[in-house]
Amino acid sequence: MSQAGLSEAGLAPAGMGRGGWSRAQRRLHWWVALLVPLTLALGFLMVELPLRPLAPKFLAYQAHKSFGLVVFGLVAWRLVLRWRRGRPVADAGLPRWQVRAAGMVHAVLYGLLLMVPVLGYLSAASAPGQVPTMIFLLVPVPHVVGPDAARFALLRLVHLWLAVGLVALALGHALMALRHHAQGRPVLRAMWRGDA
Ligand code: HEM
Ligand code: HEM
Repeated sequence: MSQAGLSEAGLAPAGMGRGGWSRAQRRLHWWVALLVPLTLALGFLMVELPLRPLAPKFLAYQAHKSFGLVVFGLVAWRLVLRWRRGRPVADAGLPRWQVRAAGMVHAVLYGLLLMVPVLGYLSAASAPGQVPTMIFLLVPVPHVVGPDAARFALLRLVHLWLAVGLVALALGHALMALRHHAQGRPVLRAMWRGDA
């Protein structure tokens, strides 16, 4: 049995590979896959909304920031599970370079999934017009850095482009998964139903 998939991008602990994705790993994958495009769409919508009436714009900002922070939490949880439980062994029929390429894409996706919300949070905290960050209007999140127009302009731009990069890469990743599925490989079934 190939060990290539086990140490993909150095993310999985050696010796793992029993069974398929756990139920929690699968649920977290699909929740994140749903929330990321939703947060992206809310991001574009909230900046376009007019300032008056204020309520829809304010609520769109809070929804964007809340879903973005939830993504961060879910991804952190996913990484803990990934570290503790690892991932299924890669399909032995796949060329080694493809297993490596997929591993690199997954590692970059994880990196972006963490970086984009952090940069979003820092943008919110740096914004000259301070709007409080309240998770689902209930939990206030303190802004650890103060307003700074120049920092905000830079962070906002990097946040935007990394968010676009994340979704573009995730789209390519999804298309590859569908391609493998069309070729009869079990990769998508394993992430959907948990078949080993
Ligand atoms: C924003 C959207 C998405 C993100 C951020 C994302 C992210 C990821 C990441 C990071 C992994 C690696 C899991 C690990 O090794 O721990 C993964 C695996 C996987 N994803 Fe996604 N994904 C997204 C959407 C999708 C969609 C739409 C599909 C299907 C059409 C899909 C199918 C899969 C499959 C089949 C795997 C398992 C790959 C393997 O076993 O090597 N993903 N995804
Ligand atoms: C997966 C997570 C996230 C994605 C995909 C995402 C995406 C986006 C997008 C597409 C924009 C629009 C940029 C523009 O058109 O100028 C944006 C702006 C912004 N986002 Fe996020 N974001 C995420 C998480 C967060 C989080 C967690 C926060 C804060 C806690 C946040 C705060 C902001 C702020 C402050 C702006 C700038 C709004 C403005 O220019 O007034 N984002 N984000």
